[in-house]
Amino acid sequence: MKTKEQLAAEQSAYWKGPGGTMWLGAYERIQRGITGFSEVALGAANARPGERVLDVGCGTGGTTAELANAVGPNGRVLGVDISEPLVGAARAQGLANAAFEVGDATTYPFEAQAFDLIFSRFGVMFFADPVAAFRNIRRAMKPAGRLVFICWRTPQENPWAAVPMRAAMPFLPPMERPGPEDPGQYSFGDRARVERILGQAGFTGLSIEPVDQMLNQGADIPTVMERIGDFGPLARAFKDVAPEQVAKAKEAIAEALEPHATADGVKLAGACWLVRATLP
Ligand SMILES: C[S@@+](CC[C@H](N)C(=O)[O-])C[C@H]1O[C@@H](n2cnc3c(N)ncnc32)[C@H](O)[C@@H]1O
Repeated sequence: MKTKEQLAAEQSAYWKGPGGTMWLGAYERIQRGITGFSEVALGAANARPGERVLDVGCGTGGTTAELANAVGPNGRVLGVDISEPLVGAARAQGLANAAFEVGDATTYPFEAQAFDLIFSRFGVMFFADPVAAFRNIRRAMKPAGRLVFICWRTPQENPWAAVPMRAAMPFLPPMERPGPEDPGQYSFGDRARVERILGQAGFTGLSIEPVDQMLNQGADIPTVMERIGDFGPLARAFKDVAPEQVAKAKEAIAEALEPHATADGVKLAGACWLVRATLP
């Protein structure tokens, strides 16, 4: 079993390196796919003029920009992310009322009791020690502040990712399965685990609501196939496999997507938790 330090080092190397590069390259397409989930999370966050907001794992700062717009000229948003290339892209937006810092949310020296709202879109599932990370985040929240984030539920509830992966698997070497406490895209899929982590970190007033939406993966199957495997677990798997095997995997994926092709695009279901918490 890997130690927390090893897991943290792996996540950091991934997001500073290939994960960051791939996220940046695929960002426009990803952003289109997750727009509906994003709107739900930002709506629940309800950032108000003049507020101070922290965007955890802000990536390229897409949500930071929306939060900055909502808090207006008298508010301020701080985006923190572990990945230099992603923070570079976030800073390049040139937002007047937002700043971006590179740092691990687990140890970043946030100003104490500074933020009215702490927000994250898919940026909190990669902590090697989530209780320590959320304790650090909690200390940054004002006593009357609110935590709002959105994260994926289990792979089984997310066919947009599971259908292509299942189709490709016969052509790929066996993949390392993350343990139930390991960081990763689906590490917050288990509602009881999310409750336990936030409870141990000192949050209260928990609300964990399911959000179910269809993800439009592209206009048609050829369009989806142009970009398949450019980010995430499939990208990681494809990089170590002979080109003929990748071609076979892609054929199988295209076939598996056929039942999901509609006149409005290739649509598969996605499932998230919308999580809200306050302080005692
Ligand atoms: C799936 S991306 C989401 C990015 C962004 N929130 C968005 O929705 O566009 C996950 C982000 O979490 C960041 N991240 C991972 N571990 C982190 C940590 N320990 N501290 C801060 N950011 C982290 C990654 O660098 C990456 O930008």
